[in-house]
This record gives sequence, C-alpha cells and structure tokens, in this order.
Amino acid sequence: MEKVTLNNGVQIPIIGLGTYRAKDKDVYNAVKIALRSGYRHIDTAMIYENELEIGRAIKDSGIPRETLFITSKLWNSDQGYESTKKAFEESLKKLGTDYLDMYLIHWFKGEKKAADSWRAMEELYEAGKIKAIGVSNFTETHIKTLLKTARINPVVNQVEIHVGLPQYNLQKYCDSKNIKLEAYAPMQSGGIFSNEDMKKIAIKHNKTVANIGLKFLVHRGIIVLPKSVTEERIISNKDIFDFSLDDEDLKLLKKQCNGMRLFPDPDNCSF
Ligand SMILES: NC(=O)c1ccc[n+]([C@@H]2O[C@H](COP(=O)([O-])OP(=O)(O)OC[C@H]3O[C@@H](n4cnc5c(N)ncnc54)[C@H](OP(=O)(O)O)[C@@H]3O)[C@@H](O)[C@H]2O)c1
Repeated sequence: MEKVTLNNGVQIPIIGLGTYRAKDKDVYNAVKIALRSGYRHIDTAMIYENELEIGRAIKDSGIPRETLFITSKLWNSDQGYESTKKAFEESLKKLGTDYLDMYLIHWFKGEKKAADSWRAMEELYEAGKIKAIGVSNFTETHIKTLLKTARINPVVNQVEIHVGLPQYNLQKYCDSKNIKLEAYAPMQSGGIFSNEDMKKIAIKHNKTVANIGLKFLVHRGIIVLPKSVTEERIISNKDIFDFSLDDEDLKLLKKQCNGMRLFPDPDNCSF
C-alpha cells in the first residue's frame, strides 16, 4: 500500500478503511476482512460508537499494532482542555491500545474550544500518546484561527471530498501549510455508483466505479477513506495502483463537479 509522509515525518497509508455508520458485527467483520486483505489504516471516531468493535477486530487479527495506522476523532461536546484528555483516554481504552497514530478535532466549534482542545492534543503528542495530530471539517479560516495559538501545525485536514466537491482551493491552501488533505465520503457516500460518465471510465480501464472515484483523489495526493462492510467491495476498492487515468478521463471527471455537499457546511454545523 502506498504511503504519504506527513509534515512530522510520520507515514500514513494513502487508503484507510472508513467506518462511519458501520457498527457491531458489521464493523468487526469489515475490519478483519480489511486487515486480512492488506489495509493497514482504519478511520474511526468517538461519535461512530464502534471503537470497541474495531479494537476487538484489531486484536483478533493478530497483526502487530505497530504496523497499523489508527485514527480517531474528538467529538464536539468533548472539546476543551481537560475534556479532550478524558475523551482521548476513553477512545484509547475502547480501541484497546496505548497510543493512537492520529487524533483529529472532528469539527471547528469556535476559537477557544479549538485552541484549548489543541493544547491538550499537543501535550498528548509530546508525551508520545499520539503520533500525529490534525483537524477535520476545517475551512481555511478555521485553520488560520487555530494557527494563531497552535505550537504544532496540524498534519491533516479530513474533509468531504469527491468528484462533486473536489475542494481545489482548500487543497491549495493546505498545501501551502504542508497539511495533507484526507477525503471523507470519497465515493459520495455511494452517490458515484449511478454516474454514467464514471461507469464509462470504469469500463475503459476494466475497473470498478469505486476505483475510478478513489483514483481521481489519490492522483491528487489525497488520502482516501472508502467505507464498506461488504467483503468483495473492501477487497476491490483498494486495487487502484495498477492503472492510470489519462487526460481524457481527468477532463471528464473534473466535469462532475457541482459543488454539492452531502454533509453539513463546516461554517454552519448545528451539532
Ligand atoms: N470527519 C468527518 O466528519 C467524516 C464524515 C463522514 C465520513 N467520514 C469518514 O469517511 C468515511 C467514508 O465516508 P462515507 O462512509 O460517508 O462514504 P463513502 O466511503 O464515500 O461511501 C460508502 C458507501 O458506498 C458503498 N460502497 C463502498 N464500496 C462500494 C463499491 N465498490 N460498490 C458499490 N458500493 C460501494 C458502501 O456500502 P457498503 O458499506 O454497504 O458496502 C456505503 O454505502 C467514513 O466511513 C468515515 O470513516 C468522516
């Protein structure tokens, strides 16, 4: 699996298994299948309520912890200095590990909350309990606000990105700060599967529509988090390193941009 080097030297596999809306037995099985088939990067969050099952699946897989990259996220109601440390310890406990590879602020909830949470995360990072710290759903303005008080720059910004919402401007800004973009909903939460143009490109390369949607992002250096609880899909989604998109494909894929979000606008999030 290809890896990306973050601004602190830590390496992250460019494809991670997404686990949002995957619970109980489904998520346990999905993680086991993913690890068996070569995934080494799992994305979760406290709010997904699946850290316990993911922890069990990791343990039962028998794969050495140090070869895995596990991300979790700080939920909005846990933001603040002390509460961040407490929430982090809870995530660790549920996941059955004594460190996280990456921990993200899930959403921007104002300058003070972000600054206090970040200070706690910086301390956890310096104590070696988190290998890399980052943010999620942050706009350029949110990042600039955080950087006013941050001692350590975020390594990634995990945001909604797919063919419909390619986020070129945000990528340009994040590149300038050496922050990598991570794409959530990289397959438009399933929306790309009815896209006729993408079906044509998939047929041309003898690939799946999922492969085309993911390759479009990986081609731009973006880390992707495809979610599936279906064995065959988990296995095939990661097979994107044996073909290239040509100029004609890229032109057609760029045409799919309609700026439509599936998730709340980070400037207008009510939860
Ligand atoms: N930071 C945030 O605020 C945030 C927000 C949303 C998501 N995320 C992260 O990003 C991950 C991905 O986002 P997402 O789950 O919304 O959407 P996604 O990965 O774009 O799409 C997932 C959907 O596509 C289906 N699917 C997967 N592979 C397929 C294939 N090869 N053929 C046909 N259908 C396929 C899945 O069904 P089955 O599972 O039934 O196979 C599921 O319904 C999440 O799981 C989570 O880890 C983060």
